[in-house]
Amino acid sequence: MTHKHIIDLDDLTLNELDKITSLADEIYKNPEKYNEACKGKILATLFYEPSTRTQMSFQTAMLKLGGQTIGFDNPMNSSVAKGESLKDTIKIVSGYANIIAMRHPMEGSAKAASFYSSVPVINGGDGGHLHPTQTLTDVVTLHHELGRLDNLCIGVCGDLKNGRTVHSLIKTLSHFKGNRFVLIATKELTIPDYIKKIMDKNGCSYTEVLTLAEAIPQLDVLYMTRIQKERFASEEEYLAQQGVFVLDKEKLKSAKKDLKILHPLPRVDEITIDVDDDPRAIYFKQAVYGVYARMALILLLLDDNSEPAKPSFEGAEECKNPRCISAQEKYLPKCYKTAGNDKICEYCDAKV
Ligand code: CP
Repeated sequence: MTHKHIIDLDDLTLNELDKITSLADEIYKNPEKYNEACKGKILATLFYEPSTRTQMSFQTAMLKLGGQTIGFDNPMNSSVAKGESLKDTIKIVSGYANIIAMRHPMEGSAKAASFYSSVPVINGGDGGHLHPTQTLTDVVTLHHELGRLDNLCIGVCGDLKNGRTVHSLIKTLSHFKGNRFVLIATKELTIPDYIKKIMDKNGCSYTEVLTLAEAIPQLDVLYMTRIQKERFASEEEYLAQQGVFVLDKEKLKSAKKDLKILHPLPRVDEITIDVDDDPRAIYFKQAVYGVYARMALILLLLDDNSEPAKPSFEGAEECKNPRCISAQEKYLPKCYKTAGNDKICEYCDAKV
């Protein structure tokens, strides 16, 4: 069986993205038409890291499609606790399930898993790297709420360094005509260079600002994110960033009347709870759209028989990123791709 994996949203063409968005809309309007679409199929959810929305929305999606689910949400309750490698776990589970959704703390882990899986692998978040199905959720939300994905001024605020949802979102929305980004972050939490290069390559303009107040009046969309405590090297470094960006009712006074406020959630303290009742705040609705986005994705992948892309180049050097899956699972082939003059790790996208 040949199949496609979703490691990065770039694994989908813009046509396929459009197809998923339209299908998600169709399922949202007529859910009963799809309640046996995956009868007899099994989804495995392998969550090596905590999750509420991603894991449960995948499970809900498969159940609503008439399929079933297996998996773990704590690897310590699986043979991972006995030292089983990612490769062996994936080889086993792909013999049990028709499709796998996974989350793992190491960057590039879903890519590595895809090398050993006989069924489609969906990346549900790999460390601070990517989170494509959150982006799919965001795209479905914006499409449903605004009716378009282009000509938008999009503010992204918070931990732009470690926030994988932001990386995936910018990569995707930078493909659409007329979009521009306002990057709101401290200098310690600024967006990685490789994301800036993608915006440059796609001809998408961006500005970097240090405060939410100066950004807010021009925005059509404000995408708030949590400071990712678990990705900091020390408590001290986290505390220096905690509470720097807080969206409250006062700041919203200068915002457009039809602003859309998104947040991948969970929220900590970056949006005060009095904002929840503002009609511009759509982050709880966004989590519901996530079920329909994942239903559409599962249907597309189980119906797909295209050949997944093979790693383009096997090199001799090791990736130096300590958060790369290749630093943990030493049997993995060393794979690089080239971007201009740079060599990029195939797993984690770090420059090598
Ligand atoms: N948005 C998101 O990824 O939420 P969870 O961590 O709860 O899955």
